[in-house]
Amino acid sequence: MNCVRLGVVGLGHRGRELLKIAADFPNVEIAAACDIIPNNWYKQQWLCNAPLSEMFPNASFYEDYDRMLDEADLDAVFVETGADIHAEFCVKALNKNINVLSDIPVVASLKEADALWKAAQRSKAVIFTGANPNFSKFAVLLKEFYNKGLLGNPYCMEAEYIHWSLPGSDMSIHLNENGDWRRLLIPIRYCTHSLGPLLAILNEQLRKVSCFGTGEHADKSEYKRVNGETTDDMMCANFQTDSGVVVRLMRNKRCRADIGHHNYRVFGSEGYMERIDRFDKPVIRYNSMKELETGLKEMSGEFMPPEYANVDKANGRGGIDSAAHGDIDYAMIDNFIKELCEGKSKSVPLKAGLAMTIPGIYAEESARRGGEVLTIRYPWDEDWNADFI
Ligand SMILES: NC(=O)c1ccc[n+]([C@@H]2O[C@H](COP(=O)([O-])OP(=O)(O)OC[C@H]3O[C@@H](n4cnc5c(N)ncnc54)[C@H](O)[C@@H]3O)[C@@H](O)[C@H]2O)c1
Repeated sequence: MNCVRLGVVGLGHRGRELLKIAADFPNVEIAAACDIIPNNWYKQQWLCNAPLSEMFPNASFYEDYDRMLDEADLDAVFVETGADIHAEFCVKALNKNINVLSDIPVVASLKEADALWKAAQRSKAVIFTGANPNFSKFAVLLKEFYNKGLLGNPYCMEAEYIHWSLPGSDMSIHLNENGDWRRLLIPIRYCTHSLGPLLAILNEQLRKVSCFGTGEHADKSEYKRVNGETTDDMMCANFQTDSGVVVRLMRNKRCRADIGHHNYRVFGSEGYMERIDRFDKPVIRYNSMKELETGLKEMSGEFMPPEYANVDKANGRGGIDSAAHGDIDYAMIDNFIKELCEGKSKSVPLKAGLAMTIPGIYAEESARRGGEVLTIRYPWDEDWNADFI
């Protein structure tokens, strides 16, 4: 493929941002976009200098996703609908042999995992997952550290993604103006940013989980799920692999701490690496028994992957007035386009996307059952079952 005719479904702040980044690639043509809210196309939105319709006058806008897939002659689609409604859009594109880059978490239930896995097997098109933290400096360095044998075998890892939710703030209003997944999604289900970089150095999947939630404390009146269920303010899950590696994960819903932290700590048989977020000054620290100097070393822990640090187009993003992530999104899209045009890249395949998504679905179920230890199964397991056992 020389030029990718691209469509995007979901024009919230994230879909708009990825659309703008993709438009910078010479071998991408923005052919179409789709949202059930036409204003997201025709009117100027948050963090945009102009309406998308003016920025992309040659692209067609659709309110109906099926019509876009039927009519726009797309090579690929970005699925940027709310975090709990990706799978049906991915399946529909795959059924029409249209390549997909889907944001994460990639599915919202075991049944969706089953349907998406089967659709991907049937399709002539490919699907990759928008696991952008897997492109971050920490994820890249951790993988290198592991591949060089400096970490040894990881035996215990922890991660947390704690994102503030200050009610009434400008950002809060904008982030929620197109949908309410941020307020309603069960916190532990948004585990992909945390688990993704850690699973990339494991040769096995997470197999057991036990999870607890705190109940509501920070605000009892603000957000209620349609079914009347409340969501926990914080959830903590412990996972274990078949060989015994333990992964501890903390994820929040309501949080009054004015932070947006992605933290990771990785303990290996030969070394250690961590990324500790101090909001504007994250650091990466590491040491290894395989090096002459065994003391802890420290470097800055910004998201920007080292490989892209000198790429102008990547560097221009991720500022305070941008929704990009400095810029792992550029790296992710670059890899997806390379995959389509050159047939190889470091894109995150569906299997890895499901391996970082499904543990959160089981963790939610474990919390519902009071922390019961559940065995996690995946669509490629022989004893896979799309129902909880
Ligand atoms: N990887 C990251 O760093 C990162 C960061 C933020 C969000 N996300 C992901 O990005 C995705 C989008 O996030 P957001 O904040 O922009 O969400 P959002 O809710 O603001 O936007 C989603 C858009 O999808 C549209 N939509 C819903 N149903 C549709 C349908 N049937 N047809 C067409 N359009 C439809 C909505 O109208 C809305 O405009 C989520 O999946 C989220 O998980 C990823």
